[in-house]
Amino acid sequence: MKTLAILGGTGKEGAGLAMRWALKGYRVIIGSRAAEKAERRAREMNAELGDQFLTGLANEEAAAAADIVILSVPYSAHAPTLRGVKDHCQGKILVDLTVPLKPPEIMSVNLPEGSAAALEAQALLGDAVTVVAAFQNVSAVKLKQLDRDVDCDVLVCADDADAKAAVVELVAAAGMRGIDAGPLKNAVAAESLTPILLHINRAYKVKGAGIRITGLDTPV
Ligand SMILES: NC(=O)c1ccc[n+]([C@@H]2O[C@H](COP(=O)([O-])OP(=O)(O)OC[C@H]3O[C@@H](n4cnc5c(N)ncnc54)[C@H](OP(=O)(O)O)[C@@H]3O)[C@@H](O)[C@H]2O)c1
Repeated sequence: MKTLAILGGTGKEGAGLAMRWALKGYRVIIGSRAAEKAERRAREMNAELGDQFLTGLANEEAAAAADIVILSVPYSAHAPTLRGVKDHCQGKILVDLTVPLKPPEIMSVNLPEGSAAALEAQALLGDAVTVVAAFQNVSAVKLKQLDRDVDCDVLVCADDADAKAAVVELVAAAGMRGIDAGPLKNAVAAESLTPILLHINRAYKVKGAGIRITGLDTPV
């Protein structure tokens, strides 16, 4: 089984994914700016899961120990976090689930300077890292409901077919359907759907609006 490091796994979105993958047998490392915080959150998640599934490390050590690195931090922390782990990600897949929101306008699409957070990640990390964009449209609230599948498809965008397939597999392990959504530059659209979902949450007074792709033979 692969080792996954979730940078920012101490937060809302990363924690749900971490516990789901741990339950499926992946070795999961919670990453944080502070090793003690990562260790504490890993202990809390282990207590919730009832076993010693997860460990915690500082982001740099977590990335170094992983086969696949997952980045789960707010957009304001995106570039600084990537700069800190760049050397430890070379030759690996980095899954970017960052949405380039611009608080307080989180219900409006914000296109960052590099068009998408995932494209910015690729430019910053260099060609030896394969960036895959995924999970931007999945609500943390739904992810935390560990006893059920998540009612949301996951658009997976990448320029490398093998890396995309590996992440579609991770999506399934976390209880969702991963959809090949084309090249990494399509992350512009995937990232832009999230502010729309946040608007829908407010307009319809719900917490976890998601997306479904229709017309496919692949079962949900
Ligand atoms: N929440 C959702 O429902 C949801 C849904 C889809 C996509 N997303 C995307 O997923 C990413 C993570 O979301 P989240 O809700 O999990 O965020 P979060 O809980 O606010 O933050 C996640 C982690 O990022 C680190 N962090 C926060 N501020 C930072 C800063 N200024 N500098 C460096 N690190 C910082 C913290 O880890 P340490 O303090 O341990 O370093 C924190 O625990 C975001 O890009 C978000 O848009 C979220």
